[in-house]
Amino acid sequence: MGGTTEYAGNFVPGDECVVSFFDSFVLTKQEGSIHMGNTTREDIVQQLEQVLREAQTTLAQANNSEQIQAWHSEYLGRKGQLTGILRNLGSLAPEERPQVGKVANDIKVTLEAELQARQEAIAQAALEAMRRAESVDITLPGRPQTPGKLHITTRTLRDIYMIFAEMGFQIYESPEVETDEYNFQLLNMPPGHPARDMWDTFYTTTPGLLLRTHTSPGQVHAMRQYAPEPIRVIVPGKVYRYEQVTARSESMFNQVEGLAIGKHVTFSDLKGVLMNYANQMYGEGRVARFRKSYFPFTEPSVEMDIDCVICNGKGCPICKYSGWLEILGAGMVHPLVLQYNGYDPGEFSGFAFGMGPERMALQKYGIDDIRYFYSNDARMLERV
Ligand code: FA5
Repeated sequence: MGGTTEYAGNFVPGDECVVSFFDSFVLTKQEGSIHMGNTTREDIVQQLEQVLREAQTTLAQANNSEQIQAWHSEYLGRKGQLTGILRNLGSLAPEERPQVGKVANDIKVTLEAELQARQEAIAQAALEAMRRAESVDITLPGRPQTPGKLHITTRTLRDIYMIFAEMGFQIYESPEVETDEYNFQLLNMPPGHPARDMWDTFYTTTPGLLLRTHTSPGQVHAMRQYAPEPIRVIVPGKVYRYEQVTARSESMFNQVEGLAIGKHVTFSDLKGVLMNYANQMYGEGRVARFRKSYFPFTEPSVEMDIDCVICNGKGCPICKYSGWLEILGAGMVHPLVLQYNGYDPGEFSGFAFGMGPERMALQKYGIDDIRYFYSNDARMLERV
């Protein structure tokens, strides 16, 4: 490094600016173009002080990191003004160089300290501005909370449970995956029975194992568990059908089965229970009608309609202008079903019914499409 070592000691080791100065100094010396003729020590010190003042003024005006960076390049960087002046040190007498080097070093240290202070001030100001922008006005009214709601199916099911609980019906749970035997055969539908077509389903890869098409196999489970005791149960749960999905029909929906078995259970009991249910579910004074129907597991079989709860029987889109809403299928338990499942039909009788809560909810809340129930759109919940 030759003559440069004398003043180099005044600079902070590893400083980018100083290293750049050394580099350029050595380079220019090798090229033999360093001498500036008449430049004196006073000249250089004066230049340094001028740069200091100018740098301080400019730094005070810097307000963001881009301006700070530009300032650093201008005054302290490799090609900055300070380095530029120090390139002239080679023109001084060797004994003068350390003195000027010290002045330069002091200026550099001062500027670096001021730079740091300015950076901190800018960061602080930015933080303050952010705090002001994000500050919470505690006098503003709170944001309204949107409390969650029960799904309409759940609400309807709970209403049904309450009404039947008051009439002494217990909830009986029955599996969703069933055997062909329970879903069909023990309900008086042997293989090949034409009524099976009404309840086509999804089959598992295990032969004879399927998703139940109705909650009626729950009757079989309950009878086989309790025979020959009397029974009064409802069997709620999901059922599955391989059929076209439409505004009124889903491929997965809920049903609630009802079953009462005893020694003197009559069709009047069935009508009384269902009328009481309809009055509680849809409001007192409902008019009902029982239409003759067919189910292989009940005899006689009926379907129950009530006067439309939306138009009170006058006719509207929900009841398709008929004035009536079908709410369930029902009947007296078929003697063969009693017999298959542990009850002597000569001694016992019973009634059963099966209703669809989603269909009932459509009617009760005036919803026009059953597909909303499981399309996972929260607006559905806001409708009721
Ligand atoms: C049955 O499923 C019989 N197991 C009901 C029964 C039980 C009759 C006990 C006699 C004794 P059905 O297929 O009609 O019947 O269905 C009963 C109810 O389920 C219907 O009244 C309707 O409310 C509802 N339901 C039927 N199919 C669908 C569907 N695809 N989507 C939504 N609800 C349906």
